[in-house]
Amino acid sequence: MVPKIASIGLFGLNAFPVKVEISVSQGVPDIVIGGLADRSVQESVMRIKAAMQNSGMRIGQMKCEINLSPSGVKKSGSGFDLAILTAVLAAAGYVPADLDGKAFIGEVSLAGDICGIPGALAMAIEAAQNGITELYLPAENAAEASVVKDLRVFGVSSAAELTAHLCGRKLLLPVKPEPIGADSFRSELDFADVKGQENVKGAIEVAAAGFHNLLMIGPPGTGKSMIAKRIPSVLPKMSFEESIETTKIYSVAGMLSGESPLVTRRPFRSVSHTASGVGLIGGGSIPRPGEISLAHNGVLFLDELPEFDRKVLETLRQPLENGEITISRAAGAITYPCNIMLVAAMNPCPCGNFGSAIKRCTCTMQQVSKYLGKISQPILDRIDIQTEVASVSYEDLTGNGKSESSAAMAERIAAAREVQRERYKGTEIRSNSGITPDLLHEICVLDEKAEAYMKLAFEKAGLSARAYDRVLKVARTCADLDGSEIIQKKHIARAVGYRSLDRKYWKNALPM
Ligand SMILES: Nc1ncnc2c1ncn2[C@@H]1O[C@H](COP(=O)(O)OP(=O)(O)OP(=O)(O)O)[C@@H](O)[C@H]1O
Ligand SMILES: [Mg+2]
Ligand SMILES: [Zn+2]
Repeated sequence: MVPKIASIGLFGLNAFPVKVEISVSQGVPDIVIGGLADRSVQESVMRIKAAMQNSGMRIGQMKCEINLSPSGVKKSGSGFDLAILTAVLAAAGYVPADLDGKAFIGEVSLAGDICGIPGALAMAIEAAQNGITELYLPAENAAEASVVKDLRVFGVSSAAELTAHLCGRKLLLPVKPEPIGADSFRSELDFADVKGQENVKGAIEVAAAGFHNLLMIGPPGTGKSMIAKRIPSVLPKMSFEESIETTKIYSVAGMLSGESPLVTRRPFRSVSHTASGVGLIGGGSIPRPGEISLAHNGVLFLDELPEFDRKVLETLRQPLENGEITISRAAGAITYPCNIMLVAAMNPCPCGNFGSAIKRCTCTMQQVSKYLGKISQPILDRIDIQTEVASVSYEDLTGNGKSESSAAMAERIAAAREVQRERYKGTEIRSNSGITPDLLHEICVLDEKAEAYMKLAFEKAGLSARAYDRVLKVARTCADLDGSEIIQKKHIARAVGYRSLDRKYWKNALPM
């Protein structure tokens, strides 16, 4: 009987089933691997030979021919090691050959240890979908895979341990899925520390409630960075599906922390302006997810926006619109999701005081223009909520007036998100920012006064068609925060107000 051992391959986030077939003949002991296996897979031979020897097992007089099927699909990486090793062990009689329903993934070291691999969660999900009931993988990836339903997950630390288990000499216990605790961690940073800036906190509330992109613009030292860092404290909880999606990306990037098998808090990725295009968008010869995908279902924070390379910023246009990014390489195209809330902060000019009512700007018009011009109109168009962060008054800063806490804001945001969850049940839409064009007018119903105001704003303020759609979505969120199913004039006015900055600051910098 030719043992066939199930394994799982991975390309980007896409896992696919692979069968390891082995055919043995008498001859010079060797292992040969076929089936579009690249060099990284071929090197498995050297590791497996050494691992067997160091675990006290012999290949004997076996010439092993191994085929990884389907043979039309390229395979790379060291993740097939464990399945190939198991196939050789089965052929040599060290373990039973009947391994139906079991799949094996993991890298084997020369010493015979089983080492961790990236992407275990995506592979475990694929295994379960292919009728696998027992998954054997490196012990360090076991917790992550154990969240998959209807799959018994065994963490294996050495070839000897696996052999003992499969022969029934010393059984391993399946890993218990860790209870996914309620979001116990709360950020210590709290909006209660931010004095004044009520309008900015209001803008953040709308942005977080509807998952809209946000830009804060203002002079130095007004609290923009301070405010941005507190956004995680008010974001709504992640659903289980969102959590799985984000975890898959961290798993592929090899960035899961050992403590928790799942990413259960919305990511907040603060990216430095020295970041490269690849760092931000993703890439490499086997394309890795970039910061924009690591922020999936959470926040990507770009502080000092004009300091970023303009070309790098422009690469954000497509992914911001589509919620996913496709990276093409010779090996094929990989798509990573990036449904993010972009938060950006900036000064309005090199000295920082342009537009300030208190301090004088010392820059020339040309300098201001050049500075603002680094942010292109298409990028600005995608930022639904633009808010000015003015200097805090002395009274606000020193007074005992209580600033609202993150908890109070988070409660209203969560309530508005709940309304959206109910409304979008059974659709692909997750939040108001994701309303699809076909449903826009069904979901955003305006009363008469709101309708009239919108017409006026559109004509007077010269909103673009894209801006018009986006204003409606933000107004939808304002109404949801207000507990109103119908969008009223005040909601439209607020949403239009959030788009006024590009006219105030950019009308001189760029042709509108
Ligand atoms: N509204 C505020 N309430 C309380 N403290 C504040 C406020 N604004 C600023 N501060 C204090 O000033 C410090 C600097 O603020 P922050 O770095 O957030 O300013 P910024 O707007 O990001 O400035 P820059 O444009 O130079 O980056 C904060 O760490 C905080 O101590
Ligand atoms: Mg700052
Ligand atoms: Zn200036």
